[in-house]
Amino acid sequence: MTSVLVVLSFTSFLLLPFSHSADVKYCGAKDDYAVKVQGVKISPDPVVRGKAATFNISATTGQAISGGKVVIEVYYFGLRVHTETHDLCEELSCPVSAGNFVLSHTQTLPGITPPGSYNLRMTIEDNHNHKLSCISFNFKIIFGSLVSAS
Ligand SMILES: *[C@@H]1O[C@H](CO)[C@@H](O)[C@H](O)[C@H]1NC(C)=O
Repeated sequence: MTSVLVVLSFTSFLLLPFSHSADVKYCGAKDDYAVKVQGVKISPDPVVRGKAATFNISATTGQAISGGKVVIEVYYFGLRVHTETHDLCEELSCPVSAGNFVLSHTQTLPGITPPGSYNLRMTIEDNHNHKLSCISFNFKIIFGSLVSAS
């Protein structure tokens, strides 16, 4: 059993349904945001330390979006340990017309990141630095080398 899991863990990345919907909270009042978020899928879940993780955010926009940026902040025990900013059009295909869309964010956290519970805050802004949405959700990071068959 263990060896099967080890083999799978090498090929797993896109194949295994190790994804999960996390509970999403808005940073402010939901009504403040033009983009409403339905959910986040984290893959793999838990995230494996030093390996790429994908966060797929399903959302709805009331207005078309031509561009902007995404600010990602990662917190560990309330301390901000990581910040990065991306062009919004790198994470979805622009322009986005009004309706549903999926923002797909892939990142690898630094290998020194200790395993544990993290909180990710994502802010989406349009081209005029106007906040379209701000959400946060929790995720876990585990050691990748120890695959347990429990
Ligand atoms: C995340 O979104 C990308 C692009 O839409 C898709 O290819 C991928 O399968 C999605 N992953 C999950 C876990 O939903």
